[in-house]
Amino acid sequence: MTTTVGIRKQAGKTPITMLTAYDTLTAGLIDDAGIDILLVGDSMGTEALGYDSTLPVTVAEVKSRTAAVARGADSALVVADMPFLSIGVDSAETVRNAGSMLKEAGADAVKLESGPHTVEITKRLTQLGIPVMAHLGLTPQHINRLGGYTRQGTTEAAADEILSLARAHEEAGAFSLVLEHVPATLAREVTAALEIPTIGIGAGPDCDGQVLVSSDVFGLSESQPPFAEAFGEVAAEMTAAVDAYTTAVTERTFPAAEHSHTETDLTDRTATPEETNTDSSSDTDST
Ligand code: KIV
Repeated sequence: MTTTVGIRKQAGKTPITMLTAYDTLTAGLIDDAGIDILLVGDSMGTEALGYDSTLPVTVAEVKSRTAAVARGADSALVVADMPFLSIGVDSAETVRNAGSMLKEAGADAVKLESGPHTVEITKRLTQLGIPVMAHLGLTPQHINRLGGYTRQGTTEAAADEILSLARAHEEAGAFSLVLEHVPATLAREVTAALEIPTIGIGAGPDCDGQVLVSSDVFGLSESQPPFAEAFGEVAAEMTAAVDAYTTAVTERTFPAAEHSHTETDLTDRTATPEETNTDSSSDTDST
């Protein structure tokens, strides 16, 4: 079983592997392949739920998907991503929402899209026994403030702010930090400055681990960010399977004899009365 303590210990040693998952079947496949962390990302909004962004994703949706992923995971750490406005509005509600991911859904930790406002939240949740993965750089829940899914930390001031927030979140108790779409040089600097592991996405090769959205990795996405890569061609495989199935059904080659069963004791109910009853004198009229 992967634990947050184990993940912390991987810093500077074994690269941490993390992928998103939103359902039991996919979580089981990824877990069996030996991934360290399954992130139930709010990217489920665009990847699984058909929203235009992550903003509409609700606590109930993340909770339900986290429970599904936890049921499919034997060994990976399951991290639930706290959706837009589920933390930070009210402190009691923040604790309840984050706590419910562990208490009701079976997550091992939560991820918070971070900023100055999440330092105290990270401290409080950690004190209460809710491990926190911080997330700096491009934080898609702030897309309306950032003006798009743009590179972050590209000025001296912005890079300084990310480094100082990274330190503040480590001090507040975060067990790891996601760095998204920041210069590789900045990610290297942050990684060197922290004891907790950094997990990069579009942050160069020097983080302690890497994370990608699984539909990008599988080759399921129609378009993907410049820092992602398809490591498979699952969309093409799925299309081929659906085409083959459709052809088999329309050509009546599926189902074949091995997919069907007959009961020898059961009369052939599709047979005509003449076929089932050759003795016409036994016919009765109940009326
Ligand atoms: O929601 C998500 O999938 C994420 C990762 C891209 C880090 O936050």
